[in-house]
Amino acid sequence: MNMSISFDDDIKDRCIKLVTCECAPNIALIKYWGKSDEDLILPLNSSISITLDCDILKSTTSLALVKRANNSEPQIRIWFDDKIDEFDSNTSDLTVKKVLSRKRFIRILKMVRENFHHEDYLIRIKSLNSFPTACGLASSASGYAALAHCIAHAFDFKGDISELARLGSGSACRSCFGGFVKWNASNQSSLSIAKQLKPSNYWPELNIVVLVLNDHRKENSSTDGMKLTVESSELIKHRVKLVEETRIKVIEDALNDKNFEKFGEIIMRDSNNFHAVCMDTYPPIFYLNESSKEIIQLVHIFNQTGVKVAYSFDAGPNVFLFTLDDYLSQFVSLLKQIYFSYVSSDDFIEQKFISKAKNMVLINTTPIEKYEKFKTDENNRIKYILHSKVGHDPRISLENYH
Ligand code: PMV
Repeated sequence: MNMSISFDDDIKDRCIKLVTCECAPNIALIKYWGKSDEDLILPLNSSISITLDCDILKSTTSLALVKRANNSEPQIRIWFDDKIDEFDSNTSDLTVKKVLSRKRFIRILKMVRENFHHEDYLIRIKSLNSFPTACGLASSASGYAALAHCIAHAFDFKGDISELARLGSGSACRSCFGGFVKWNASNQSSLSIAKQLKPSNYWPELNIVVLVLNDHRKENSSTDGMKLTVESSELIKHRVKLVEETRIKVIEDALNDKNFEKFGEIIMRDSNNFHAVCMDTYPPIFYLNESSKEIIQLVHIFNQTGVKVAYSFDAGPNVFLFTLDDYLSQFVSLLKQIYFSYVSSDDFIEQKFISKAKNMVLINTTPIEKYEKFKTDENNRIKYILHSKVGHDPRISLENYH
């Protein structure tokens, strides 16, 4: 299977190496928020995530090492969707951010080039997302993880790839693996790396359902948000202690025992705690909107007899839901009754419930009465529903030409 994104013909003839990597975004179950080192992107607390399925959401990045044809060519050229940036690795113009942070890119490059002795070469990178960046799903995690893999393979880097990805965007280190992943907090860069806790096939009954809400608000960057939190929140100190001393162990135990009630509860508590910390930031940061809060209430009503569905929210209003196969169709059917009463069941599956959901049967067993308050005439509050199983490790292809 040829995964690579095509480059111009004049590059093809001069190509020394071509690496392509596909990575999926990850969703933090115990969240990272706050750095102890801004440059090295070292987190205040450890975090744990699930990697999504590459077939549902992915970033694909191709990197070509190319022989130089003439001295006027820029050393680095990066295309990201329809944007482009070009610069040399000794550029002093580090604040420019056309495609990605030049400063972070050059830091990653420096780390891999120490032991790379090759003739003069150029770097050409193309990156595409299978999902609209504007829909507020964490594309920086999958994007930087794919980039880190490409750079590591192109430069024969023998160190830890998740450390490279982390230098691009903290949460990207967790997208370097499929399954369930832990990013360890340490004040030493080489120890602040990600490790897989469980592979993608460990808990096959687990589902992730993403509700992309219609929201036109511009996202506040997580980099700025967490910096402000560290500078101004009192609660963050308590959160770091709580996560390190209790939460990481609780979720690891729940995962080992496949205890969904315990697993779901700690995920929801951690998401709520993270958003409480955002509100304790001064001035406060609000990532949830009214629809997000409504889904939280809905889940708690659904869970009155025990935790069957869990929610989690990152630095945005979109909802990440976790549930086992037994409750998936019941909960999605409930969402359909409340939010999609204006579309037929067939259209709902075709248009809204993308991908694997085609195998799913929608059943109408949920009594709607107790959810009456959520019913609305307002259409399109949810823009897309994505369904994913736990995703596998990144896919890589490498071609050497000379
Ligand atoms: O790595 P960043 O800068 O995109 O920050 C991610 C922050 C959260 O998504 C809110 C939490 C997490 O651990 O992914």
